Amino acid sequence: MTERGQWSSRLGFVLSAAGSAVGLANVWAFPYRAGQNGGAAFVVIYLACIFLICFPFLLAEINLGRFTQKNAMGAIRAIRPRGSWLGLGVLCISAGFCILSFYSVVAGWSLGYIFKMLAANETSFPEFAASPIQTLPLLLAFIMLTAFVVYRGIQHGIERWSKLLMPTLVVLMVALILHGLTLPGAAAGLDFFLRPDFSKVTGRTIVTAMGQAFFSLSLGIGGVLTYGSYLSKDENIVSAGTWVVLLDSLIALLAGLMIFPALFSFGQQPTEGPALVFIVLPAIFAALPAGNILGAAFFVMLTIAALTSTISLMELLVAYFVDERGWARGKITWLLGGAIFVFGIPSALSHGAVPALSQMAWFGGKSFLEFMIFVWFDIVPPLGALLFCIFIGWVWGIGKAADELAQGSPGFRKSFLGLPIRADRLWGFFIRFVCPLAIVAIWINAVFFD
Ligand code: PFF
Repeated sequence: MTERGQWSSRLGFVLSAAGSAVGLANVWAFPYRAGQNGGAAFVVIYLACIFLICFPFLLAEINLGRFTQKNAMGAIRAIRPRGSWLGLGVLCISAGFCILSFYSVVAGWSLGYIFKMLAANETSFPEFAASPIQTLPLLLAFIMLTAFVVYRGIQHGIERWSKLLMPTLVVLMVALILHGLTLPGAAAGLDFFLRPDFSKVTGRTIVTAMGQAFFSLSLGIGGVLTYGSYLSKDENIVSAGTWVVLLDSLIALLAGLMIFPALFSFGQQPTEGPALVFIVLPAIFAALPAGNILGAAFFVMLTIAALTSTISLMELLVAYFVDERGWARGKITWLLGGAIFVFGIPSALSHGAVPALSQMAWFGGKSFLEFMIFVWFDIVPPLGALLFCIFIGWVWGIGKAADELAQGSPGFRKSFLGLPIRADRLWGFFIRFVCPLAIVAIWINAVFFD
């Protein structure tokens, strides 16, 4: 059997899993989605999804990984060796591949903006994004960065880099927030971000907030499961999982605090959409003293956040080929890198370079990139999570799952926060009923009542 590797410590796991969770979804997508969906009301629904649906599910996904010590496909196979459940494994592997392809495009833009800021280059975002001579090499460079870390393996690659990159990210964000709060008119931004107005909420808002919560925690496609498979049996999954959720939501909130006060101070619109980060922020930075340094710092941070996420997506794929097919880690990492680059080309060309990809009539005139985002960001992670809940709660069996989760987590068999209910029973009830029914109800509500 191939040497699989293991985290050297709980901190290594927590930082790596939080690194996977914290990414473009928190820093790039969360503010624009909150901006388009009414601000604080979206934030409240997102947080409700995080704590009521995603948190119990996160524990379940890590737990299945640790129990089986396998990748997404192997974990399912360990419990049901044959039959249609293997389709869930296929969904996970396809999701990892497809998400990597479009996610790396946006990450490549971010990498490019570091240099654009430093060089005080004034090309507009639409011009930049429509230029394949710039975006394709950036896509390739970013994928190579990811492959380089994954190739080094668990402790020397993923864990070492996450321990360095995650704290750097937080320090940079806090510095940018403190700066933003001193700007005149910052209070209006805080108000928009922190005071909810539920009259603007539709079924679609709730679907978006739920998709945001799952994707932002890297759930439902076996990424967290794969990281869980490198955990030792005496690790406390409940506390490690709690840290991951707290860090992830904290960083999304910090991203909002970083963006909205500055945005309102400069009289910009919060509804700008996916281009928010790339259009509005450089405009803001341009007006600040030493703005190009601040701007470069911001995009260094966004690239770091994206990198710790793509590392986990690539690890999800590499683990499958190493465990299930016996490939050598180095070889498959570079091969996958090449394949993802090729597959990412349509997304990279869909922001102006190729008109047929940039405005697709059958998808409401939106781009191929936006299509990929809709399928793999909004729909597939909650769908995967729904199927995993059924698989863990009903196929594997909630009793066995709870036995595994209790290992290393002594408080799990006791009362939940002093209430007259045991944590393990409550968790089982959520995995079997609350989480799957909530996901289905949110979809039905959007399809039939919007
Ligand atoms: N959670 C990442 C983000 O917030 O950007 C994206 C992601 C990473 C999704 C890994 C899924 C995944 F398996």
